[in-house]
Amino acid sequence: MAFLLALDQGTSSSRSIVFDAHGHIVAMAQREFRQIYPQPGWVEHDPFEIWQSQLDTAREALVKAGLTARDIRAIGITNQRETTLVWNRRTGQPIHHAIVWQDRRGEPTCARLREQGLGEAFQRSTGLKIDAYFSATKIRWILDHVAGAREAAERGELAFGTVDSWLMWQLTGGRVHATDVTNASRTMLFDIRQQQWDPALLAYLQVPDSLLPQVLPSSHVYGETDPALFGTALPIAGVAGDQQSALFGQACFKAGLAKNTYGTGCFMLMHTGAQFQPSHNGLLTTAAAQTAGSPAQYAFEGSVFIGGAVVQWLRDGLRAIQSSSEVQSLAESVPDAGGVMFVPAFTGLGAPYWDAQARGAIVGLTRGSTVAHIARAALESIAFQSAALLQAMGRDAVAAGGAPVSELRVDGGACVNDLLMQIQADLLGIPVVRPQVIETTALGAAYLAGLATGVWRDTDELAGHWRAERTFVPTLPRDRAEERLALWDRAVRQTTAT
Ligand code: G3P
Repeated sequence: MAFLLALDQGTSSSRSIVFDAHGHIVAMAQREFRQIYPQPGWVEHDPFEIWQSQLDTAREALVKAGLTARDIRAIGITNQRETTLVWNRRTGQPIHHAIVWQDRRGEPTCARLREQGLGEAFQRSTGLKIDAYFSATKIRWILDHVAGAREAAERGELAFGTVDSWLMWQLTGGRVHATDVTNASRTMLFDIRQQQWDPALLAYLQVPDSLLPQVLPSSHVYGETDPALFGTALPIAGVAGDQQSALFGQACFKAGLAKNTYGTGCFMLMHTGAQFQPSHNGLLTTAAAQTAGSPAQYAFEGSVFIGGAVVQWLRDGLRAIQSSSEVQSLAESVPDAGGVMFVPAFTGLGAPYWDAQARGAIVGLTRGSTVAHIARAALESIAFQSAALLQAMGRDAVAAGGAPVSELRVDGGACVNDLLMQIQADLLGIPVVRPQVIETTALGAAYLAGLATGVWRDTDELAGHWRAERTFVPTLPRDRAEERLALWDRAVRQTTAT
C-alpha cells in the first residue's frame, strides 16, 4: 500500500501524520516550539526551531508507523499562513526571526496605504483587506529594519517565503524556492485572478521581485528531499496553507461547500468555484487549493479571533473551570444562557464586523445569572460569531447568483464538543457535519500530494472517501433562532459603541 507523509506546521506546534491510501491515520507525532514576544503586539518564531521540530516529528511519525521513507509515496506540506521569513540564498541563514501572522507591527504601513486610498486596488487584485495580518508589511518591515537587508535584496541575495517555502528550501537543501497559490494569496502581493505577483502592489510596498518564490499549483511535484534527511529522496508533491488544506481535506471541492475549523480562533471557508468574487459583506476572497491542470479555484474566508480561546479565558481569567473539558458539563447544567450574551471581543472583532476598537462584554445579567449561564453564553459566542460569518457568506454567494451553504463541515479541536455543534446547527438552520477524520488539515496536504503522484485519480475519488461521523440536525424553530441572532447583533452593537 502507498503511504503519504503530511507535514502540518502550525502556529504553536509542528505535527507530522502518516496516512494510508484510504486516507486513514497510521501514526502521528507533534512538538511544540517557542513563541517569542519581543514587545506587545509582536510575535516571532525561530526559523530553525520551526524546521527542526518539523523534521523531528516527521522522523518520529515514520518510526511510530513502523515504516521507512521507502514506503512513503510523497510528502505534503501544510502550514500556518502569512508568517514571513527572509533568508540569504547563499548561506541559507534567515536574516531575522519569522514574523508570525498574529504580529501587528506592519499596522503603520497599512494605515498609510489605506490613507492613500489603495484599499480597492488591493482588494481587486488580492481579494484581501489591507491588514498587518498578511505577509506584505512584514517583509517591508524586515527590509526597513535589518541592517543591509534592502541593499542585499536589490542585489538578489535574499529569498522571502512563507513557512511552506522555508520548509521546502530546507527539505531540498536549498534547491527549491517555491510556494503554492494558496500561500501566495495570503501575502497581499499576489494577484489571484491573473495568478501572478502584482508589480503595482510590489511597488507600493517597495518589495523587490527578486525576493519572491515561484508560485505553483497546490498539487504538483515541487522537487525531491535531500536523501540525507530520510535515507532516500522523497517527492514533495502537495503544498497548501492550513485553512485551504482543511477545505480540501473536507472534500469541499465545489462551489457552495464550506468548512469551519474550531481552534483558538475559528476559520470558515466556503468554496466559490472558478470565478473570483469580491465580498460585499466584509469577507476575504482567497485562492482555494488548485490541482495541476485545473483552473484557479476561489473561496470566501472569514475568521473569528476568539473562538476556543474564550474557554481558556473562562479557565485562566475568570477561573470558572479548572480544565477546558469541564465547559460542556457546566454549560449543560442549565437549559439555556438565561438571557446572558457574551461577546468575547478581547482583541476587537473580525469579519463581518471589522472593529479593531471593540472590546468584550457580558450583557443581560440578572440576579439569577450564574457562572453556568456565563459558560453557556461563552460557548454560544463561538457559534454566534460563526453564524454571522456564514450569513455573510450566504449574502455574498446569493448576490453572485449562487446558493447559500446547505451544510457546514466542521473540524478542529473544539468540534468534539457536541453541545457546541448542536448550538451551531440550531443557529444556522442547516446540518453541521463532523467527519470521521477530523485531522482535515493534514489530510488535505496528503490528498494534494497523493493526487500529484498517482495514489488517487481525481477529486471525485477523494470525495468518495469523505465520511460523516455525526450530523447535528437543527432542532430550534427558525423564528426562535432568528430572535436569538437578533439579540446577538444587539449585544455586538453594545460592544462597538463603547
Ligand atoms: O491564517 C493563520 C492560520 O493559517 C493559522 O492557523 O492553525 O496554525 O493557528 P493555525
